[in-house]
Amino acid sequence: MTNHRATVSMKQSVAVQENIVLPGDTNAHDTMFGGLLMKRIDETAAISARRHCRGAVVTASNDGVHFHRPVQRDDIVTLKSYVCYVGKSSMEIFVKIMTENASRDEPGQIAAISFLTFVGLDKDGRPTEVPNVQPETEEERAVFDEAKARKEARIKKRAETNELIHSLGLMIN
Ligand SMILES: CC(C)(COP(=O)(O)OP(=O)(O)OC[C@H]1O[C@@H](n2cnc3c(N)ncnc32)[C@H](O)[C@@H]1OP(=O)(O)O)[C@@H](O)C(=O)NCCC(=O)NCCS
Repeated sequence: MTNHRATVSMKQSVAVQENIVLPGDTNAHDTMFGGLLMKRIDETAAISARRHCRGAVVTASNDGVHFHRPVQRDDIVTLKSYVCYVGKSSMEIFVKIMTENASRDEPGQIAAISFLTFVGLDKDGRPTEVPNVQPETEEERAVFDEAKARKEARIKKRAETNELIHSLGLMIN
């Protein structure tokens, strides 16, 4: 069967969000709240997903965020994301979180990375096919090459989570 799906580049879905870490964004250690960073990761990833498929999307999962180095108060924090792999209706988004001292002329550093999965939805809210994605740069190819293994691990995790919910007989109380 011929595949009629369009293919788009990863740079087409790039989204960038920059903020200065304000006092209200920090915890007792004067570093950025992890929860706030996770919210911004989800927001930036959602923009990439929408740029890629130009339709409605929903967050299916977040593989987790490993806070590699702290983001300090008054740092400039930059989130950059792009769609790095697609299945049929799902899109994997790669998010890089970079931190930079606002007062010193020094190169920025990676503070964290994250992979999220978004699903494209049709007008009835059901999963729908999204365009393919094509890596071009060395980084894009490296992220793309590992994506299938991450997707398999995610499918296994989803099944385990479903089983746990059922086996624990979880109830709302
Ligand atoms: C994500 C969701 C749309 C999947 O719908 P579904 O009817 O179960 O659809 P499917 O099982 O056919 O999965 C569709 C695709 O999503 C992927 N997927 C589903 N759950 C996933 C998960 N937890 N993590 C990663 N990918 C997932 C599937 O692998 C499949 O990918 P593919 O089409 O590329 O092969 C549905 O579970 C949902 O709406 N969840 C709630 C999402 C939400 O509310 N998010 C905001 C949280 S506040």
